[in-house]
Amino acid sequence: MHEFSYKGSDFFCEGIKVSDLALRFGTPLYVYSYKTLTDHFLKLQSAFREIDPLICFSVKANSNLSVLKALVDKGAGLDIVSGGELFRAKKAGCPLSKIVYASVGKTDKEIEDAVSSGILFFNVESLPELENINRIAGRLGKTVKVALRINPDVEAKTHKFITTGKITNKFGIDFKTAGGIIALRKRFRHALIAGLHIHIGSQITESGPFLAAIKKITVFISRLKDQGVPIEYLNIGGGLGIIYSRETPQTAAEFASKILPLLRNSGLKIIMEPGRFIVGSAGILVARVLYVKKTPLKKFVIVDGAMNDLIRPALYDAHHEIVPLHRSKRERQKVDIVGPICESGDFLAKGRFVQSVRAGEYIAVMSAGAYGFSMSSNYNSRPRAAEIMVRGKEVILIGRRETYDDLIDREEIAV
Ligand code: LLP
Repeated sequence: MHEFSYKGSDFFCEGIKVSDLALRFGTPLYVYSYKTLTDHFLKLQSAFREIDPLICFSVKANSNLSVLKALVDKGAGLDIVSGGELFRAKKAGCPLSKIVYASVGKTDKEIEDAVSSGILFFNVESLPELENINRIAGRLGKTVKVALRINPDVEAKTHKFITTGKITNKFGIDFKTAGGIIALRKRFRHALIAGLHIHIGSQITESGPFLAAIKKITVFISRLKDQGVPIEYLNIGGGLGIIYSRETPQTAAEFASKILPLLRNSGLKIIMEPGRFIVGSAGILVARVLYVKKTPLKKFVIVDGAMNDLIRPALYDAHHEIVPLHRSKRERQKVDIVGPICESGDFLAKGRFVQSVRAGEYIAVMSAGAYGFSMSSNYNSRPRAAEIMVRGKEVILIGRRETYDDLIDREEIAV
């Protein structure tokens, strides 16, 4: 459920007419609904309340400070993957004891900063990384907690680019190797193995893959317990899918009802790292129609939003619903909706039946809250879009539009 809908002919975000925002702030424009964002977090929290997990929102899905702050204020922790995300997490006021840090390639500087800050734990992806964290923490006179990221070799049934839990992927450590590392744990006096972590992929719409992975890891944890290895935390990752088109993903309550029986009596402190589930349907990308171009074979609707604003269609052939901001009785037509960028891969939708639109009118690309702005770029020297948060009838500019000066700010002309 989300807070974007028509009232009469006009498309609204909560109490605000979206076309008024487009006129006031220009396009392309990201618009987020505060209620949708926080409701999704609260739904997940409430579905799992009997085990009281720490829900660490995955910053990579949407790293806007106001988005992070809204969730942190509701009790969320944050899942980070870089020094830049740690910087953002601190700026958003996230308690350090609620930050977990994943990534297969943490640099020494990133590790140093996170160790000095005192985050909850690192999700560790290899033996050399564990050795490095142990060395750096020792040098800084600290002891940190780590969770070994296990690669459970489970098929997540999602797009191959966002599958992460197969043994052919670069992520995590296989069970056998992990067992070997744990046997050596006394060597790592400054990096205590306190937990295990799994994350098998993203946009997973069935509970089967999650269940398979959690079953495998809980069996592994009981074996470790039998050997006298105490495991305090289990991080079950993110990956919950949302509706982009005709998917029928599980609700938070359905997901919890399947997963809880495996975790309820485990005695483990559970961490979750959802990104898309919380923010995906809480954001849209609004664009203005520049031209409608007919060719002998096709009709192209050329808009001012492009692959630099939302790369998911170009990168994953992802489907995002597209709706007009003003609904009319005009016929529906089959069109390609494309941006101005000089690549044939620059499209928002292909061969899509949408209400016929004219130059100057606006469209909204739905479910663009996750991996939308956070994956945007300046390709073709296009300034990044503005971002707005709507809260009831309140409108807050949470990210100003970049200027041309922003584009060249870092650069020097070498003579
Ligand atoms: N935890 C880890 C370790 C992750 O790698 C990810 C996402 C998450 C949590 C959050 O996953 P979520 O709940 O959002 O599915 N750019 C792609 C998605 C890449 C996901 C990367 N990792 C897309 O636009 O579909």
